[in-house]
Amino acid sequence: MCGIVGILGKEPVADNIVEALRRLEYRGYDSAGVATLTSHGIERRRAVGKLKNLASLLAREPLEGTSGIGHTRWATHGGVTETNAHPHTVGDVVVVHNGIIENFRALKDELIADGAVFTTQTDTEVVAQLLSREMKRGRAPREAVKAVLSRLHGAFALAILFKGENDLMIAARNGPPLAIGHGNGEMFVGSDAIALSPFTNRITYLEDGDWAVLTHHSVEIHDADGKPVKRPMSFSQASTMLVDKGNHRHFMAKEIEEQPEVIGHTLAEYVDFAEGTVRVPEKLPFDFAALDRITITACGTASYAGLTAKYWFERIARLPTEVDIASEFRYREAPLPKNGLAIVVSQSGETADTLAALRYCKQQGQHTLAIVNVPESTIARESEMVFRTYAGPEIGVASTKAFTCQLTALACLAILAGKLRGTLTLEQERELVSALIMAPRQMTEILKEEKHIADVAREIANARDVLFLGRGLNYPIALEGALKLKEISYIHAEGYAAGELKHGPIALIDENVPVIVIAPHDELYDKTISNMEEVAARGGKIVLLTDDHGMTDNEHKAFRSIRVPKAHPFVSPLLYAVPVQLLAYHAAVFIGTDVDQPRNLAKSVTVE
Ligand code: AGP
Repeated sequence: MCGIVGILGKEPVADNIVEALRRLEYRGYDSAGVATLTSHGIERRRAVGKLKNLASLLAREPLEGTSGIGHTRWATHGGVTETNAHPHTVGDVVVVHNGIIENFRALKDELIADGAVFTTQTDTEVVAQLLSREMKRGRAPREAVKAVLSRLHGAFALAILFKGENDLMIAARNGPPLAIGHGNGEMFVGSDAIALSPFTNRITYLEDGDWAVLTHHSVEIHDADGKPVKRPMSFSQASTMLVDKGNHRHFMAKEIEEQPEVIGHTLAEYVDFAEGTVRVPEKLPFDFAALDRITITACGTASYAGLTAKYWFERIARLPTEVDIASEFRYREAPLPKNGLAIVVSQSGETADTLAALRYCKQQGQHTLAIVNVPESTIARESEMVFRTYAGPEIGVASTKAFTCQLTALACLAILAGKLRGTLTLEQERELVSALIMAPRQMTEILKEEKHIADVAREIANARDVLFLGRGLNYPIALEGALKLKEISYIHAEGYAAGELKHGPIALIDENVPVIVIAPHDELYDKTISNMEEVAARGGKIVLLTDDHGMTDNEHKAFRSIRVPKAHPFVSPLLYAVPVQLLAYHAAVFIGTDVDQPRNLAKSVTVE
């Protein structure tokens, strides 16, 4: 998704804007630009490709001006060209925008009929044209903005400057997040607190419908009706360091390796290591014992964490649990129970579909709990309770450490539910918590197999199609493995419940189709192995992920095997996630794709 930055500064701002945009690179983009107010009016520098291209352009053609806005663009309307790169200027106005103006076509037709001449294919230019028209009609900047905002349908975050108004910036939010940073005699706007962390940690988040009038020394916030509102200023914990790759080739490699450590950080929040039990938060806003049902909703990898949690909640806490992807759930008008808990899972805490699903659940009177990695995110702020993951900033677009931390937090929550509903004895609780405490060390053992896993990855990297099979708790891991592989190596892959094979997918099997079989030696092992044998009988190329027992048991049946340490079945999803992440990563490296920022993808999908 796009990234927005704006600065009313005391010194030339162009380089600081680029520095802030660097902190938004993880969101995924394909062009970037900066505009400042100079003695010549509004001046811009824009460049296709990575920020280094914009920085080189600015080095060749510096921009003066102490008031400026900047943008990293993830193309929605119009191709990846310099012309379509933000900022967009019309007349005395210059705008940067994140989101989608859903009614831009009708507005564009109206403006063209009114004599407007468009120079780009973007929906954003419509905003600049509307603002320019209002100002030509004699409206002052804030009146013009108020009038234009009422015309826009869809999701947008905007930052706007006006020629000759060096002490004025107007920002607006309806959907994608927007933060205001309070400086000393300076004011900042950014898509998140990370972007502003080099300048300030005093942050005010705009709410949906808000628009703000900023000067170097003041901020006035108005709600959608134009009424002045107060929004709290908080002290952001966002890292001031530009997260770097260390000695890794990619952020994804670093983040896979960080998993044992960050799972430990997450466990420390929810587990009493001395007692070997889960911590009960000081106040739960709901009574697990009184709940009729849990509804879990999320997108992508986060939805697979939710699907895994279904098995845990139902098995451990005897709590009926429904899981649905947020983009479907938000429109399904699902009837929800009187005593229901809705759990939303989101690394970024800004995913539009997940946020909409959360709002539906709140409107339906559900208790709400968010599993998020960004504590200041919109989803966190709109949920009744937050169970944070402590994965740290996840920069790679493909989610890895955030996923296993989501699993960790959900596992602890399921144990807590069992404890409070009386379906788990103290001894059983300690058994499960002990299994979780051992998981980071077992993960470290798997990471030591990386070279072998990379060899296997290279042997499947030329496949056109790959299947992932798993049962029970590892069915969601089969789905996750397929998603990892397809999203970074661009190889088509599908995850299936192993028991589904005979209901269709087995028709796909031949010697050209690698089949990744996830088979820990648990209660479903025999059934999964017989599914594997059905694949072998048809010449399928099997890559078996299993423990020592499974390795010995199937010594000559699989094309390749990857050993996973013997572990309590409860934690197998955390462990088996690691080899499927590494298979995807090394296949992608072998193929040569952009592993950290795969084509067409963004880290946080803040539009639907
Ligand atoms: C994961 O590898 C993907 N990048 C994607 O599926 C992601 O999990 C999904 O977009 C949800 O994002 P969120 O966790 O920030 O809500």
